[in-house]
Amino acid sequence: MSFLKEIEKRRTFGIISHPDAGKTTLTEKLLLFGGAIQEAGAVKSNKIKKGATSDFMEIERQRGISVATSVLAFIYKDKKINILDTPGHKDFAEDTFRTLTAVDSVIVVIDVAKGVEEQTEKLVEVCRMRNIPMIVFINKLDREGKDAFDLLDEVEQKLGLTVTPLSFPIGMGYDFKGIYNIWEKNINLFSGDSRKDIEDLIAFDDINSPELDKIVGNKAAEQLRENLELVYEVYPQFDREAYLNGQLQPVFFGSALNNFGVRELLDCFIDIAPSPRPKQSEERLVIPSENKFSGFVFKIHANMDPKHRDRLAFIKIVSGTFERNKPYLHVRHNKNLKFSSPNAFFAEKKEIVDISYAGDIVGLHDTGNFKIGDTLTEGEVLNFKGIPSFSPEHFRYINNADPMKSKQLEKGIDQLMDEGVAQLFTLELNGRKVIGTVGALQYEVIQYRLEHEYGAKCSYENFPVYKACWVEEPANPKDPEYLDFLRVKQKFLAKDKQGQLVFLADSPFSIEMNKQKYPNVKLHFTSEFN
Ligand code: G4P
Repeated sequence: MSFLKEIEKRRTFGIISHPDAGKTTLTEKLLLFGGAIQEAGAVKSNKIKKGATSDFMEIERQRGISVATSVLAFIYKDKKINILDTPGHKDFAEDTFRTLTAVDSVIVVIDVAKGVEEQTEKLVEVCRMRNIPMIVFINKLDREGKDAFDLLDEVEQKLGLTVTPLSFPIGMGYDFKGIYNIWEKNINLFSGDSRKDIEDLIAFDDINSPELDKIVGNKAAEQLRENLELVYEVYPQFDREAYLNGQLQPVFFGSALNNFGVRELLDCFIDIAPSPRPKQSEERLVIPSENKFSGFVFKIHANMDPKHRDRLAFIKIVSGTFERNKPYLHVRHNKNLKFSSPNAFFAEKKEIVDISYAGDIVGLHDTGNFKIGDTLTEGEVLNFKGIPSFSPEHFRYINNADPMKSKQLEKGIDQLMDEGVAQLFTLELNGRKVIGTVGALQYEVIQYRLEHEYGAKCSYENFPVYKACWVEEPANPKDPEYLDFLRVKQKFLAKDKQGQLVFLADSPFSIEMNKQKYPNVKLHFTSEFN
């Protein structure tokens, strides 16, 4: 098959949701359709279980699973589907943000009873900012939940989306009868007896046909007609261009657990979801169909075996093909590297492959060459954009608790930060190191891994910071206002790992005061602002 056809076949996406909305269940059902797994229960949840006896064990368990489920790939109707796993736990939100830089579209799962939840809001905001095409799946229709129109309103308001339903439920909870598929114009009935089997699809070009009354009963048929009339009146018609530009989000209803509405979602997904999309680099826009390879690291996973400190770097191929044993330029190091055993992912296995195409993910064994955001090319100097750091929520000084092991500590901190476990800030005034994280759990992860993988011990000390603000250097670095800011705020200034200047504000008030006193000093809540 030609190179262009291979790329066109690829659908690389992520499923995002608040924990418990049904992401794992939906993933599993999609894999079943692809024939990638034979039975339910094969996909392990990578959730941090509440009340686990030992947090460390739980973290290890989670890490072990997440390497297996980082990329789940399968073929469905001649399309190569790559699902990138996104941790749902909020303490790992930054991991999810980074994975979202490697997807070409997303499916957002929402619990019909709980509606839009906090984590969904945060993740969708990131997708919206990047105009990532999104499909919404409203799950758990077999349970009592919110009214479908109320939910659509909630999705529009809380998530700032413009939705258009492509399916619509007939009843809900105990009275759930099935789903009318607006996209394919047919009805899928939910079996009343076992409530598990899927009956044949019934085509309904004309929703007014008396057949409908016979099948779902007069009341439900009338209700459906009324609902659909409202749908057609209120919501815009589906428009693929608008969806691809992130301006319109189609909505499906179903029950992942009962495998209901999932096939409809998948069939529509492979029709409308984008094949690999172009990506902006600092130098130029890179198009997937270019012959020359380029790609970037969006995730690094440390090996589970502490004796071998090698890691797996996950590369999203942006353009061309990645070939085994071919030398590629590591742009940041300006060095050629060859990879003899690149891993491709299939279902839950990884295997060595000779060639992978734009849109695919390859896993490369790494002994410390890579950090998140690194670019590989066939020689051209490219730096892909769009892997910003966000301000952490928690900040603590990190201290060396074993003076004999300071080298190990330094190396450990360095590598864990390259993996993106947390962010490191070095204070300008005294060189003290501050670790910033999204959740408190990361401090335990870091302490545990430093000890078990690097033989180093650390302790923490509170450092009250409200937010890290990246400071934009003015056109004239000798600007008196900027110099005054640097002098007065010296105590609160630090460098991040890239050497960018950061103002560690202790309160919203101090950010506000800063704006008033130094109107020309621009502060940003993410590290990427150019
Ligand atoms: P997550 O990955 O988004 O965190 O959610 P997950 O799929 O693990 O699902 C969370 C819970 O919701 C699971 O139950 C799952 O069985 C249930 N669930 C998922 N889809 C549906 C659905 O369509 N209908 C109903 N009624 N339930 C659904 P659990 O009891 O927490 O876990 P388990 O012990 O069953 O695995």
